[in-house]
Amino acid sequence: MEHKGFTIWFTGLSGAGKSTLANLIAEDLRARGMKVEVLDGDVVRTNLSKGLGFSKEDRDTNIRRIGWVCEVLSRNGVVAIAAAISPYREVRDEVRSKIGDFVEIYVEAPIDVLAARDVKGLYKKALAGEIKNFTGVSDPYEPPLNPEIVCNSATETVEQSRAKIMSRLAELGYLV
Ligand code: ADX
Repeated sequence: MEHKGFTIWFTGLSGAGKSTLANLIAEDLRARGMKVEVLDGDVVRTNLSKGLGFSKEDRDTNIRRIGWVCEVLSRNGVVAIAAAISPYREVRDEVRSKIGDFVEIYVEAPIDVLAARDVKGLYKKALAGEIKNFTGVSDPYEPPLNPEIVCNSATETVEQSRAKIMSRLAELGYLV
């Protein structure tokens, strides 16, 4: 049977765990015979969005591009998984309304936990003022008001979040 395409959209601060969860969910869906493509912000910025910076305008352009690719993939039976900070609610909602079959996952984590973890060493630099307009430190992040799923990487293990996402996808009728 052909699976129906849809989009899973991870949003949240840098280092919250979006990419990790996106790749694990991609694995789980592939194991069920689904076609999956992951669009990771860090990767997209090396090709499709190369040259874009972190102003609101550039971030919105980045998100619209990722959203457009997700839309094209989704309507061709692929599960598109986006993992980008996507800090602005309005453009996330714009992408949602274009795609329709859209599952928004907010990966939450307190800023002090992220700064202490500092996987990429960017929070240290942002807090020292060496990186300007850093999301959560010196640039806004607008959490979703009605996400389909919320994961908290400070209070849940990766495996707990992964299981929660898979069961919610089933509940929403996307795993038939
Ligand atoms: S988004 O805002 O346009 O959605 P995206 O997810 O593509 O951002 O890229 C975020 C990644 O870029 C971060 O994980 C981090 O590695 C890097 N980065 C560099 N500068 C910034 C900044 N000013 N704010 C946030 N992330 C930044």
